[in-house]
Order: sequence, then C-alpha cells, then structure tokens
Amino acid sequence: MRIIGEKINIRDLRFNDLDAYFEYGKDPNVGPFAGWKPFPSKDIASRVLNGQIVSKETYAIALKDKDILIGTISLYNTGIRKYNKAKSLGFSLNSAYWNQGIMTEAVKLMIAYAFEKTDCEILEVGHHTDNYRCKRVAEKCGFNYDGTLCSYKKLYDGRLIDACFYSMTKEEYERKKKYE
Ligand SMILES: CC(C)(COP(=O)(O)OP(=O)(O)OC[C@H]1O[C@@H](n2cnc3c(N)ncnc32)[C@H](O)[C@@H]1OP(=O)(O)O)[C@@H](O)C(=O)NCCC(=O)NCCS
Repeated sequence: MRIIGEKINIRDLRFNDLDAYFEYGKDPNVGPFAGWKPFPSKDIASRVLNGQIVSKETYAIALKDKDILIGTISLYNTGIRKYNKAKSLGFSLNSAYWNQGIMTEAVKLMIAYAFEKTDCEILEVGHHTDNYRCKRVAEKCGFNYDGTLCSYKKLYDGRLIDACFYSMTKEEYERKKKYE
C-alpha cells in the first residue's frame, strides 16, 4: 500500500525501518499516550515491528522527500463496536515532528483510504481522556464525539484509564467531501 500526501507518504512497514522505528518508540513521551510501553531495547522494537509487518494493519508514515519513517498509523477492527465493518485508527509520531499538522494529514489520508479503498463503513478514534493532542487531531479531521468510556483499559503500568471515543460514518465522509 502507498498513499502519497503533501508532506508525507503512508506506505507498508519494512524491516529496514527498524532504526527509525526504535528511535521514536523508545521515547517516553510517545507510547504511553497511546497505551503502549516505550521499547526498552532494539530487540523488542524489532519483534514488535516484525509482528506489525505480518499483521498488515499498521503502516509507516514517512517523510515524503527522504522516505524516512517518522511514525505509524494503524487501521484495525474495533473492540468497541459489534460490527465487522467498523474500524479503528491508532497512530503515533516521533516527537521531533509534533505540531506541524503531520498526523492530521496522515489521518485524513487514512480516512479517505478506509472509505474509498476498503469495505469500512464506520471509523473510530479513541484517546485517553488527558490526551489533548489526539483530541485535536480527531476534531480537525471531522470526527464526531461519541462519549467517554470509564475504566476503558488497564495499562501496562497498572493505570486504569478512561477513554474518549469519536466516530465518522461513510455517509458523513461522503457528505462532507461533497461540500469541500
Ligand atoms: C497525538 C499526535 C499523534 C499528534 O500528532 P501531530 O502531528 O503533532 O498533530 P497535529 O500537528 O496534526 O495536531 C496537533 C494539535 O494538538 C495541539 N496541541 C499540542 N499540544 C497540546 C496540548 N498540550 N494541549 C492541547 N492541544 C495541544 C496543537 O496545537 C495542534 O492543534 P492546532 O492545529 O489546532 O494548533 C502526537 O502528539 C503523538 O504521537 N503523541 C503520542 C502518541 C499518541 O498520543 N497517539 C495518539 C493516541 S490516540
């Protein structure tokens, strides 16, 4: 898969992404906000990367000019909605690239991909209640706030967190696209 954007491309993950993948995945400011433990070693990062390459649900966000991985975005079956055409988006970015609109661009590209190239009919984004950056990305991409689920998940560090959920239907996407 390859999606060409303005600042970034979204493409399949590759084994040779490992150094860049470990670089941002070890950062304590990144993984915990998305619910995962920072990679303690390159070996662990390599195992996670290999698993994601095999599962084909997670894609690389790469700088357009240099094709260097700076983050990832996943499209996977949601555990919240009981409907097999409902999918969830998960994402994270190397903190050196935050606040430049990069994830907003990546999420908009994935919304178009999900609704136009797959059988997805509902897209969902969820974030821990204190993740204001992710909240802004969801809002800027046109998701509607559905509600907050209390005691949503027990994290690797024992914290029981609440999460906010947002959704967009294919119909809403198509209606919005018509007026853009
Ligand atoms: C969430 C994340 C992907 C956002 O990526 P990004 O490329 O910086 O996002 P964008 O630049 O498109 O938008 C970020 C928005 O958050 C805002 N923001 C940044 N810090 C903020 C804060 N502390 N409080 C409120 N808003 C904040 C920015 O101002 C921007 O909004 P604006 O365009 O209205 O000014 C990135 O911060 C990240 O990887 N975080 C760690 C992992 C994570 O949280 N993943 C998401 C799990 S749901």
